[in-house]
Amino acid sequence: MCGIFAVVNDNSDNAAQTVLKGLKKLEYRGYDSWGIAVKPADKPALQVDKHIGKIGDANTDLPKGKIAIGHTRWATHGGVTDQNAHPHLDCNGRIAVIHNGIVENYRDLKDKLMKKGHRFSSQTDTETVAHLIENKKNSLKEAVFSTFNELTGSNAIGVLDYQSETVIAARNGSPLVVGFDKKNSQYFLGSDVPAFLKYTNRVYFLKDGEGVTISKAGVNLYDLYSGKRKEFTPQVLNWKLEDAEKSGYPHFLLKEIHEQKNTISGTASLNLNELKQVADLIRKKYKVVLTGCGTASYCALAGKYYLSNVGVESQTYPANEIMPFVRFIDKKTLFIAVSQSGETADTLIAVKAAKTRGAKTVALVNARGSTLERLTDIVLPVGAGPEIAVVSTKAFTAQLATLYLLSKALQGKISQAKQKLRKLQGEIKKLFTPIAIKHLIAIAKSLLDEEHIYLIGKHSNYPASLEFALKIKETSYLHAEPFAAGELKHGVITLIQKDTPCFILASNDESKEEVLSSASQLKARGGRIIGIAPFEAEEFDEVIKTPDLGDLTIFPNIIVGQLLGYYLGIGRGADPDKPRNLAKSVTVK
Ligand code: G6P
Repeated sequence: MCGIFAVVNDNSDNAAQTVLKGLKKLEYRGYDSWGIAVKPADKPALQVDKHIGKIGDANTDLPKGKIAIGHTRWATHGGVTDQNAHPHLDCNGRIAVIHNGIVENYRDLKDKLMKKGHRFSSQTDTETVAHLIENKKNSLKEAVFSTFNELTGSNAIGVLDYQSETVIAARNGSPLVVGFDKKNSQYFLGSDVPAFLKYTNRVYFLKDGEGVTISKAGVNLYDLYSGKRKEFTPQVLNWKLEDAEKSGYPHFLLKEIHEQKNTISGTASLNLNELKQVADLIRKKYKVVLTGCGTASYCALAGKYYLSNVGVESQTYPANEIMPFVRFIDKKTLFIAVSQSGETADTLIAVKAAKTRGAKTVALVNARGSTLERLTDIVLPVGAGPEIAVVSTKAFTAQLATLYLLSKALQGKISQAKQKLRKLQGEIKKLFTPIAIKHLIAIAKSLLDEEHIYLIGKHSNYPASLEFALKIKETSYLHAEPFAAGELKHGVITLIQKDTPCFILASNDESKEEVLSSASQLKARGGRIIGIAPFEAEEFDEVIKTPDLGDLTIFPNIIVGQLLGYYLGIGRGADPDKPRNLAKSVTVK
């Protein structure tokens, strides 16, 4: 939610262009508007260029310079206008501010500043930060840090000062990472690594309560509260440039769906000690609670079925609905939070609440260096690599594979589970053959003008149908509504008319007959029945056959939903990488 990017001592002498390119890699974090501020080489004042809309094909004619900051916005306070786009300047245009988060006390701060004569040109909470800094008499670093300490809420800011040609940044709750291109003495600040991965994979993830100054002389780290310098060691990530590029695919979404041909079995060789550690806690009768938001919450729900299969009871809650139940969390609770980004505000709030109740916390996370990672006792990074498309695909399957491994670790069958995941890896390749894709595209074409589609699934195919439907909604804006198969007859069936598209997600398991019986109820009302299953059935008018993988069949069933969502999105003119109104990580409540 909002992307921050800055370059200091830009080697091309064209910092605005470098920032523009970096922001394009962060567009998944918000695409209501974008903006850049540069300190031109030949002028004393900052120059700013800001526009509403996606940055995708945008250009800027900002002048050359060695230092610039930029921002891509997901609007919270203040509408989507050029004025509300970041960076925001103080009254004198001396400093420019970019911000990710919400300054919860901004009204109060703004009122005081206006009484002192500060002139505001936007409706944002962010502009308050620029004027607050301007209002301070101390050195700029101290002014930025003390301003930041006055803000409430989860925030990360970057400040460009034209006089000292320094970027000063601070973090509390929203991500910030510094990139070190030592060889060329150029430095970067970003909300996420892909913004500068082209230049360096040597990084330092700021922790909450830390601030940095970045100038051509180098990077200094500080404790925000004491103002004291801190030692730090950058880490080298094993991410490749291709991870942040489309590598020949028309969209990141399609690339990331295809990457699942490798990422699932990649996950299977990670976290083996941590999985044993978590399994031991469950054996010691810790009560398991799983949570997450959106896709991650469906992953948590699917995990509940896997745990039940091995005799472990667990509870799942969407993180944003957990509060009424937090009082049941105690020291004997194992609280597992699932999150691609590790920055989703609702998930972090849930984890903090569980921690205050004394729970042991576990993170199942894909992005590295996240807040969730730092908050939790045990971290299981699922290693799917950077996920750029807003819609989560490869992170979801890697997280689900990890929960599957956990269930098998409880039975002492982790090696067999790894083997099964390897087999799955081979089998899902069949979903991507030209014939299979042609069939999917034909089905997508036949659905382009529909307004509603319905999906049913039973047992583990129930969370699969929730996830399948979410992919369709997110990528194509088609109303796709999932139900537990057994719920149909309790009201939903009124919605089915002649030719209403109904997807039936099924596996070759104990639920097969019941789900087919629900399918025939839909068929009897005239529904167009499309099976997503490893078998043919007379109830199906059409079938997209998936490999028969026992309790892992939900993986290919869901991947069909990802692909169908992608092709439907293309057919309906949506942008598969950047669905309207969404942001990849929702860092606000
Ligand atoms: C946003 C995205 C969803 C995602 C959810 C949770 O709402 O649009 O696609 O599933 O956040 O994100 P997380 O990073 O916590 O998995």
